[in-house]
Amino acid sequence: MKEYQNLLYEFDGGIGIITINRPKALNALNGATMRELNELLDVIAQDPSVKVVIITGSGEKAFVAGADITEMQSMSAIEGRNWGKLGQAVFDKLENLPQPVIAAVNGFALGGGCELAMACDIRIASDKAKFGQPEVTLGITPGFAGTQRLPRLVGKGRAKELLFTGDMIDAAEAYRIGLVNKVVPPEELMAAAKAMAQKIMSRAPMAVQLCKAAVNEGMDMDLQSAVAYEAEVFGLCFATADQKEGMAAFVEKRKANFTGK
Ligand code: CAA
Repeated sequence: MKEYQNLLYEFDGGIGIITINRPKALNALNGATMRELNELLDVIAQDPSVKVVIITGSGEKAFVAGADITEMQSMSAIEGRNWGKLGQAVFDKLENLPQPVIAAVNGFALGGGCELAMACDIRIASDKAKFGQPEVTLGITPGFAGTQRLPRLVGKGRAKELLFTGDMIDAAEAYRIGLVNKVVPPEELMAAAKAMAQKIMSRAPMAVQLCKAAVNEGMDMDLQSAVAYEAEVFGLCFATADQKEGMAAFVEKRKANFTGK
C-alpha cells in the first residue's frame, strides 16, 4: 500500500481507517494533505474489500483544527476560491463514497475539521472533542461547505449562531443539537467507531450502500422525485441475492449470511 506524507491508512478486517497525520499542526489541512486525501478516496472507492471507512485525527488533541492558516494567509481571491473548490470537491467525494464513513472525532474539529466531520455519514465524538466554525474570527467564511452542511444537520438558526459567533461547543452540546450521533470517553472512541462499523458490515452491503445513495441523492431533490428515486433503489434490492437470503433467514428463523451480491 502507498505511503502518504500526511495521512495514515490501515485496513482492519473490512474497515479502512484514515488518520489525518499532522499532529504538530493539530492535523490542519494543507494542500498536500487535501491532495493525498483526494487520491486515497479514489483508491478506497474502487476497493470492494473496504466495507466501511473510519476517519480520525492523529494525537490526543485534535481531529482537525481547520484548513492550514499559514498556507491561506497570503492567498489571493482567486487562490482562495480555488482552495475552496478543491476542499469542496474532496469532501463531496467523501460524502458520496460508496461505503459508509464514520468520523471518530478525537479532539478539536474546527473550521475545515468540522466540515470534514460533517461530510462523513456518522459522527462519533470523544467527550473531549470541540466543534466550531471559527472562520469569522479570521476574516473569512467557511470554505469547505460548512455554510451548507451545518444548517442541513442542525437547522438554520443554530448554524447561523455558530457561524456568526465563531464559538466552540463541546461534544455534549454537539450531541444535543444533532451535530454528532454519539459521545463516548476518549479511550473508547475507536472501539465505538469500530463497533458501529462492524454492525453496519453485518447488514446487507448493497442495501446499506443504496440507503446511503437514497439519502444523499434524495436530500437534494423535491420530495416527489426523492421518493420516486427510493422506489427505484427499493426495487433494485429485489434483484440481489442478499434480499432472498435476508428474507429466507427471517422466515427460517436463522441469522442471515449476506454475501454482498
Ligand atoms: N492551521 C495551521 N496551524 C494550526 C492550525 C491551523 N488551522 N491550528 C493549529 N495550528 C498549529 C498552531 O499554529 C501551533 O503551531 P506551533 O506549535 O508551530 O505554534 C500548533 O498547531 C498547536 O496549536 P496551538 O498552540 O494554537 O494549540 P492550543 O491548544 O493553544 O489551541 C486551538 C488549540 C484552539 C485549536 C488553536 O490552535 C486554534 O484556534 N487553531 C485554529 C482553529 C481555526 O481557526 N480553524 C479554522 C481555520 S479556517 C478554515 O478551516 C477555513 C475553511 O473552512 C476551509
